[in-house]
Amino acid sequence: MDDQDLLEQARGALDSAYVPYSDYRVGAAIETSDGTVFTGCNIETANYSNSLHAEETAVAKAVSAGHREFTRLAVTSSARDGVTPCGMCRQTLAEFCGEELRILCDDDDTEEYTLGALLPAAISRDTLEDANDGAAGDRKD
Ligand code: THU
Ligand code: ZN
Repeated sequence: MDDQDLLEQARGALDSAYVPYSDYRVGAAIETSDGTVFTGCNIETANYSNSLHAEETAVAKAVSAGHREFTRLAVTSSARDGVTPCGMCRQTLAEFCGEELRILCDDDDTEEYTLGALLPAAISRDTLEDANDGAAGDRKD
C-alpha cells in the first residue's frame, strides 16, 4: 500500500465522523508493522472533554485488536487543510511509536513529518524508569 492509498483510507473514515459541535471532520488511518490498517474518526460529546480525536480512535482500535507496532499514520480533514495530530494525539502516538513514525497530512500536496519532528524531547516510559532508577513502587512519597 502506498502513501496515497493510506490517505484514501483516512478520507474514507471522514463519513463516520460524529461532529455535531465543531462540524470539523477528521479521519485517520494507522498502519501496523504487519500491514494491517485501522481507521478512526473524531467523535464529539456535549461536554466537549470526552470527545475522541480521529488518531486516538484509530490507535484505540489497533491496540485493542492486539497491535502495538506502527509504521505510518495518515490524517485528513473534511477541509483537506493539512491538519496535523494535536499535541495530545502526538503524545498518544509516542506511547507506541518511535520518532521515525511517518505522519502523512492531507493537503493539496501531502505534507510529511516524523513523530520526532512533531514531538521532540517527548516524555516517555524511559523518562519515568530513569527517574525511579528501576525501583518503581519503592518510593515512599
Ligand atoms: N481533532 C482530531 O480529531 N484530531 C486532532 O488531533 C485535532 C482535532 C478533532 C477534535 C474535534 O472534534 C475537532 O477536530 C475540532 O477540534
Ligand atoms: Zn488530537
